Amino acid sequence: MSGTSLDGIDAVLARFDAYGHPTILSRASVSFTPSLKEELLALNTSGQDELARAAKASNALVDLYAQAVEQALTQASLAREEVMAIGAHGQTVRHCPQDGYTLQLNAPARLAELTGIDVIADFRSRDVAAGGQGAPLVPMFHAGVFATSHTRVVLNLGGIANITILRPHAEPQGFDTGPANALMDLWCQLHTGDPYDANGLWGAGGTIDQDLLDLLLKGEPWFATPPPKSTGRDLFNQAWLEHRLQQCNIGVLDHSRAQDVQATLRSLTAQTVANAIRTYAHDAREVFVCGGGARNEALMADLRDLLGYAVEPTDKLGIGTQDVEALAFAWLAWAHQQRIAVSRPAVTGARGNRILGACWPA
Ligand SMILES: Nc1ncnc2c1ncn2[C@@H]1O[C@H](COP(=O)(O)OP(=O)(O)OP(=O)(O)O)[C@@H](O)[C@H]1O
Ligand SMILES: [Mg+2]
Repeated sequence: MSGTSLDGIDAVLARFDAYGHPTILSRASVSFTPSLKEELLALNTSGQDELARAAKASNALVDLYAQAVEQALTQASLAREEVMAIGAHGQTVRHCPQDGYTLQLNAPARLAELTGIDVIADFRSRDVAAGGQGAPLVPMFHAGVFATSHTRVVLNLGGIANITILRPHAEPQGFDTGPANALMDLWCQLHTGDPYDANGLWGAGGTIDQDLLDLLLKGEPWFATPPPKSTGRDLFNQAWLEHRLQQCNIGVLDHSRAQDVQATLRSLTAQTVANAIRTYAHDAREVFVCGGGARNEALMADLRDLLGYAVEPTDKLGIGTQDVEALAFAWLAWAHQQRIAVSRPAVTGARGNRILGACWPA
């Protein structure tokens, strides 16, 4: 898995039983080089020679996927012949289901060639072809591993935030709620040079700018749009933020206000997540958080304040915050091989359940 945060790759090696219940055997993370990160970010908007650049970036990405696979195999002392498949999400550079497409850079044939293992990829396009959002795809996996006898919310804080609402004896619901780390990361990078605000400490030194927060919340109709919905850097990007800062007379390079803006962006994430949970999961009394944002203590504290009940990392349920998304795509690969239609109209808005992904045999 390599997500919208563009921080790098998380891999897990897992064994699934007949019901698709996983046991993690090993895990690996590989960071993007600064130049690959920069290029992948640049490819989120149109630019010169972007087709050839996208093809080259896809190959570079997959070379790192292969490294992650090798690391996971070595750690588990497993031979490649013992592995059924690799689920490889690719790197989303466009997500426009309203226009009938979502685009992940990937090179599954190259990954099959490099690893000698079947590769399952292109998980989102079939759901979009069936009229769906193509996202989020993880709620069915969350249902399999996290559902319990009461209502529970699973929150993934990657570049974008998405929630899954799990109720006993009911189909899961799920949708994107807006930015999680994407805006905070780009702001932190711009003003401190660090790729993210470690533990939320830098932003915690700022004060929330209520006027800016109101503008960010109320000036974006997407937040109030009912699900099914999904989003990405197509909407929540630097231009989106700069436009709103200008409206509040805050200079993009004004260092004296930078921490206040960071605190406000953290609050934007917390408020939009909490609003979505209060509106669509009013009966929930606990939230389990995965993704890198679970390590932002200031953000976790904001969520506890706003919701008034337990907000805990998924480690408490036995799966590490960094492993949940990667494990979900291993499970999606397993489901593809079993020919199980895992997408859900209630989540993505597609016409029906579909088998997701395609296979590139080793
Ligand atoms: N110690 C930390 N403190 C604060 N934030 C952190 C910390 N560690 C990671 N993060 C945040 O988490 C992000 C990475 O999270 P993650 O890998 O879950 O996102 P992602 O790659 O976008 O994944 P996905 O799209 O699958 O949800 C980093 O960019 C950073 O913003
Ligand atoms: Mg990541």
